[in-house]
Amino acid sequence: MMNKPNKPMNVFDVQSSQKVIGQEKFLDAFKKILDHGGYAQGPETKELDEKLAQFCGANYCSTCGSGTDALTLALMAWDVKPGDAVFVSSFTFVASAECIIVCGATPVFVDSKPDTYNMDPEDLKRAITEVKAQGKLNPKAVIAVDIFGSPCELDEIKAIAHTNGMKVLSDAAQSFGSSYKGTRTGNVADMTATSFYPTKPLGAYGDGGAVFSHTNEDNELIKSCRVHGMSPEDHYDNVRMGMTGRMNSFQAAVLLLKLSVFENELKVRKQIASRYDNELSPYFRKQRVLDGCESAYALYTVNCDDRDELMAYLKECGIGCGAYYPRPVNTQTAYQQWNNRPMPVCEKLSKTVLSLPMHPYLESDAQDYIIEKMNEFAAKKLNKAA
Ligand SMILES: Cc1ncc(COP(=O)(O)O)c(C=O)c1O
Repeated sequence: MMNKPNKPMNVFDVQSSQKVIGQEKFLDAFKKILDHGGYAQGPETKELDEKLAQFCGANYCSTCGSGTDALTLALMAWDVKPGDAVFVSSFTFVASAECIIVCGATPVFVDSKPDTYNMDPEDLKRAITEVKAQGKLNPKAVIAVDIFGSPCELDEIKAIAHTNGMKVLSDAAQSFGSSYKGTRTGNVADMTATSFYPTKPLGAYGDGGAVFSHTNEDNELIKSCRVHGMSPEDHYDNVRMGMTGRMNSFQAAVLLLKLSVFENELKVRKQIASRYDNELSPYFRKQRVLDGCESAYALYTVNCDDRDELMAYLKECGIGCGAYYPRPVNTQTAYQQWNNRPMPVCEKLSKTVLSLPMHPYLESDAQDYIIEKMNEFAAKKLNKAA
């Protein structure tokens, strides 16, 4: 039996990379911004746009205020509006669906697969058929979420969407740094939105987000919508509806510094995930990462019928954990008018998923202890059942 490690074992660690990079580097970067005065969307954001696009091989990147802004901006750029149907996973953070309603369109929820937790392409097909048969809404786009950092079935989803005249927006809020069949997330769907909220794989020290696109036309639309629909020729002529969606220069400076250690952080996340994969009892059903794809492991999540009991036990052992997400979006109070399709897999997942500590600064003694305690729980359950 191991002793409990001294350091806290939280699900996230938003501070340790500061020590690795050196606090003075952040202070120097902030001082530069104080001196040049370009606080909102200053030179740091432009540099970050270029570096992020380079990182994932995307043609264009436009940073913005948050992941929610990124999703909303992409829908605005595609002129998603009242009368349009946008298909979205229900087993996700609420922002994946909220952006649709903000644009006045109708969310159509799609169920997940039990092993990947991501959108089930077969249920997407059924949902499209239903919407077409009702004949009230215009199928416009699909928002495909990479839940917990693990890429969804984008080839299948793109084929279904394109056949039906729709575009695919990847909600890669949790999966920046992942890759889909050898291509980095950001360069796969028709557009990709990501988040730099502090707990995300690449986290800022406040809110931040970005939209990746393939064409100059889409990128120009994002840039216009990011500043109230401004015309690039005449800044006092707003040619479409938009929002205040700029990234501030301080967050861009943080992200530029954090990007310098990000590859290594991803590598360590993967090593920890591989230990959990190999050493945790098969009693816990692990999230399946698609063949040929790499998760960014925003979270490491297992699925277990005694989830609530396991959570209480881990808390007793001093191990942080979380149930992401305890309610599929379609069951939430504000979403009842769109809760009109069966979502059995999402409902089951919401009762059985549990996320363990996962960040690049989780030390090996903490990993050992978490694995030991998890396996002790599994052994008790398996012995009882035998
Ligand atoms: C799947 C998903 N989509 C969208 C968002 C929204 O990102 P932000 O919090 O940066 O607005 C999040 C953030 O948690 C998310 O997890």
